[in-house]
Amino acid sequence: MKRIAVIYQSKHGATKRYAQWLAEALDADLYENKRLKPRDLAAYEAIILAGGLFATGIKGISFLRDNAAALPGKRLYCLGVGASPAEPEVVEELKKNNAKGALADVAFFYARGAWDVQAMTPIDRAMCSMLYKSLRKKEPRELPLWAKALVDCWDQKNDWTDRANLMPLINRVLKDSQPQ
Ligand SMILES: Cc1cc2nc3c(=O)[nH]c(=O)nc-3n(C[C@H](O)[C@H](O)[C@H](O)COP(=O)(O)O)c2cc1C
Repeated sequence: MKRIAVIYQSKHGATKRYAQWLAEALDADLYENKRLKPRDLAAYEAIILAGGLFATGIKGISFLRDNAAALPGKRLYCLGVGASPAEPEVVEELKKNNAKGALADVAFFYARGAWDVQAMTPIDRAMCSMLYKSLRKKEPRELPLWAKALVDCWDQKNDWTDRANLMPLINRVLKDSQPQ
């Protein structure tokens, strides 16, 4: 039995790729966040939840938030995967929007994922298109980083996934796994 579980929820594949890389690097078991129960995770020492970012929320994070009390004594980590550049203000925003309730003290990490308007569902594309149209009317200097990135890469297909983006999370999990 492995000691670490990586759970992921991915709509377009970038988070899935990161979750697979994490599981390889940490010799962890990998689960998609579907019909998972806390009892399935009973034997693990550490649980990493990885989810794509949609309107600032990490997909699948409610599984961890709702079940934190049923996972006592386990080290919990969250990875958000979005299209914004991995700047400190993006990571701060990620924590502000997701480190709530039972997850207030959990360690949060961020890795840049992918962006492809053509691959989005019609509803997602319509939502993002409305946002893009309002943002591009504004002065670029006044836009927050995530908004500037959206305007800049709007119609370009981008894949920023890179194993190196996972090093801060991997190093933290390994450090926490050392005997005290
Ligand atoms: C409707 C929608 C909302 C999004 N909101 C955000 C966001 O708030 N912050 C961000 O950095 N990226 C955002 N993105 C970009 C996705 O997080 C990015 O494409 C990521 O790679 C998705 O993960 P996945 O490929 O695992 O589904 C959004 C994308 C869509 C389609």
